[in-house]
Parts: sequence; structure tokens; C-alpha cells
Amino acid sequence: MSDAISSPQAMPRPAAPRPLRRPPNALSFLYGLWRNPITTWSQQSFREPIVLSQGVMGRVALVNDPAAIRHIFVDNVANYRKDALQMRVLRPGLGTGLLTAEGDDWRVQRRALAPLFTPRMVAEFLQPMMQSADWLVQRWAPLREGRRIDLASEMSRVTLDVLERTIFPQGLTRDPAAFAKAMGAYFDSMGQLHPLDVIQAPDWLPRIGKRYPREELQFFDEAVRDMISAQTRWLQDHPGKPTSDLMTRLLAARDPQTGQALSEISVRSNVLTFVGAGHETTAMTLTWSLYLLALHPQWRAKVEAEVDEILGDGELSDEQLPQLMRIRATIEEAMRLYPPAASLSREAIDADELSGHKIRAGTLVIVAPWVLHRHHTLWDKPDYFMPERFMPEARESINRYAYIPFGAGPRVCIGMGFALQEATALLAKIVRNYRLDLAPGHKVEPVMRITLRPKGGMPMILRKRHHS
Ligand code: HEM
Repeated sequence: MSDAISSPQAMPRPAAPRPLRRPPNALSFLYGLWRNPITTWSQQSFREPIVLSQGVMGRVALVNDPAAIRHIFVDNVANYRKDALQMRVLRPGLGTGLLTAEGDDWRVQRRALAPLFTPRMVAEFLQPMMQSADWLVQRWAPLREGRRIDLASEMSRVTLDVLERTIFPQGLTRDPAAFAKAMGAYFDSMGQLHPLDVIQAPDWLPRIGKRYPREELQFFDEAVRDMISAQTRWLQDHPGKPTSDLMTRLLAARDPQTGQALSEISVRSNVLTFVGAGHETTAMTLTWSLYLLALHPQWRAKVEAEVDEILGDGELSDEQLPQLMRIRATIEEAMRLYPPAASLSREAIDADELSGHKIRAGTLVIVAPWVLHRHHTLWDKPDYFMPERFMPEARESINRYAYIPFGAGPRVCIGMGFALQEATALLAKIVRNYRLDLAPGHKVEPVMRITLRPKGGMPMILRKRHHS
């Protein structure tokens, strides 16, 4: 079967806000950030290698030049730290876990947790991931043909199930659905950028209109406390039993210089970091992948043929994963058009030079996958779904730093291999058993709230695929 590049004239344009003609003024920029940050980019952002500006956020550099991106994340990484605004959004819930820690604190945590994500460990997680996929197939089995479901919340639920079977095998001590809901509510409220936070107004000024997720934070505190005591008890009851889950690693981690254990706060922060960073991102990747498949029935038929042939009614093995090339291309193209982490940012510590421009110390440097992945100089027909570009031969010509759904350099996503395997296994199993179509009358709108998600969920029509 041919995988030739589809003709864009005949193709629908996946949902996305149109870039502004001109950069917005300060007020509409702040309003846009509050409503939906991906609506604030102008046409210039999608065409220039670097856009420098001075406004309510101080000096800002939006960087789209792959060489400069490599410079920021790899070559001169020591000069770029995570900025105050993202810390303000993430730290109330995630504390100083791996995602938000800096310097030595980060290094100790990364070293302690890296062994949980080696290719060998990730391969061992394939079986529990397939169990989660089976669980989902069973969960949908009793539903009536043509039933409308909210795919976004279904995907959140199943990716949390994966975390429970892999890195949290002693469980989350709470109903996973309640955990998923609390994390969603936390992202919703903290991820909405309040104008006073953007301009870094003092804390005592009330953030009118912003809901502080007090209840959710209390829920997390209590759940993590119970998880730590359950794990400590389990370790006492099973002395010498080998186990290498996230909790055990965190409780056993020692600072190589001081020999000190991670504090309880640090353990708590990481548990929430892994729940926060590890389920919604993959859930959204799957949601957008299935949305795009529904929009492109011809490509979907090819993907169905692939899983029917390779997966059949059996279990997925390690060797089969790389054969699912169309599944993988769909996932990668979905993360290009809808990167779950749509904007990454850093602050320049000292002055530097990027793409031939002087960057002053203190500049906020933004590398936004949303913009980069739709940049007109880097992609052919950037706003269209063309998964063929991620098929093996074509993929080689994509610049490593033009496509960064998982970031890059030493702070690249620790869960990248885990997430790709999980998304591949789940998508293959779903496509093998079900066909999802767009719910008539629903307008899909991507909105950024820490992760990029469909506003109001993703209602879809579920049908069983009947195969001989
Ligand atoms: C499709 C799914 C995922 C996407 C798109 C994604 C994206 C990212 C990105 C872009 C970063 C870098 C942030 C930055 O440089 O500012 C990151 C970091 C991180 N991710 Fe993921 N992620 C995904 C899945 C996961 C999973 C499954 C886990 C854990 C099980 C995870 C845990 C983390 C952690 C702990 C960090 C911080 C790493 C560090 O700073 O050392 N992520 N992720």
C-alpha cells in the first residue's frame, strides 16, 4: 500500500486558531494569555527565525532557529534556567520535583530516577501497558454502538491506570478517577495565566477571577502522605525483596556528596510531578491522534490495515513495536500539530547571542513547540496533517531541533521512551478494536492550560470494529 504524501487541497485543516496579522497590544496580549495563550502568536512568529520584543513580560525572545535551540538546550545550557512565571504555575502543586528543581537538587533527583526509565526498564513495562489497553477495551465493551463518549477523560483515565501498573505498583491510595479529576482541575486553574502573574505583580495583590486550587492541593497532600506510609510499610513487611518502582527509588535516593536522603517534601513533589507530567501529556497525545484519524478516514484505513496485520488478536511484543510505523507516524504528527507541552521557556542568566542577535541577561527565552512545529520555513504545509513525513525514509530529513515535543538536552523529558511506547501500545489496541468518529455539531478548539487540550473535552462517537 502506498504512503505517498497526501494532496493538501483535498484535506481538512485540523482545528487551530489563525495567527494574528500583527503582534497584539499589551491589553489584548494579557487577555489572550488568560483565555488561551496559543491565540497570542502573530504571523511573524511563524515565519521568522527569532522574534525579539519588549513588553509586559520584559524582554522576550521567541526562538525558532534549530541551531539556536540547540545552543539553548545543549551547548550553552548552563546559561538558561527555568523562569519565574513557569515556576509560579508549577511549584504550588509540583513543589521542587524533577521538573521544577534546578542545579544540584535537580542533578541528584535525575540520577536517582534515570534507572527507572532505561530502555530495558521501559521494555519491561510493555506488558503492564498492554494490560491497561485490555482494561480499556473491556471498559468500552458494554457501551452501545454509536455511543458518545468524552475521549479526553477516557484517555486521562487509562494513562493513569498505566502509571499505577508501572511506576506506582503499590497504587495511588485513591480512586484513580478522583486523582485524574483533581490533577485536571489543578491544571485548569493554575495553568490559566493571570495578568498580574504575567507582569509579576506582588503577591499581596488579589488575583481577581483566579481560583486557587486549595481543595486539590489538600487532596494531593493527603494522598501522597498515605502513599509514602503504605510504601514504607510494604518495604518493612518485605525485607530484601527486590523492587525498583518510583517510590522505592525516591525513598532510597541519596545525595552523592552529602549522603543525605531526599526530604519528605522532595518525595512528595516527585510523586505529584510524575502523576502531573506523566499522564495528561500522553492522554492528550492519544486524544489528538484519534481526532486526527477521524478527520482523515483514508489514512485511518491504512492504520487499521497495519494493526490488523501486525497485532491481530494477539498481544503486542517488543519486536512488533517498531513495525507499527503508521501508528508511530500518526502519534508523531499529532505531537507536531498538538504538542502537549506547547511552550517551553527559560531565562538567560548572562548575555548571549542567538541567531546573530544579542540577548541581554534576564531575557525570557521562549521555544514554543506550537509555533516551531508549524513554522513556515521548517515544514511543508505546516498546518496540515501529513503523517507521511514521519514515515522512516522521510523522517531522517527532519532537523532534531525543529521537532521537540519532549524538549532536548539534559532536561529532555525523562519519560520520553515510556510515553512513546505507551502511546503506541494504546493507540494500536484502540484502533484494532474500535473506530472513533467526530461528534456531529461539536467544534474542536485546542486550548493551552499547562498542557494543550481540547476545550470542553473531545466528544466522539464510539463503534466496535468487527473483524473476522
Ligand atoms: C507524550 C507525552 C509527554 C510529553 C509530550 C512530555 C513533554 C515533556 C517536555 C517538553 C519536557 C521538558 C520541559 C522543559 O524542558 O521545560 C518534559 C520533562 C519531563 N517529563 Fe515529560 N512528557 C511526556 C510524558 C512524560 C511521562 C510519561 C513522564 C513520566 C512517567 C514524564 C515526566 C517528565 C519529567 C519528570 C520531566 C522533567 C525532566 C527534567 O527536568 O529532568 N513525561 N516532558
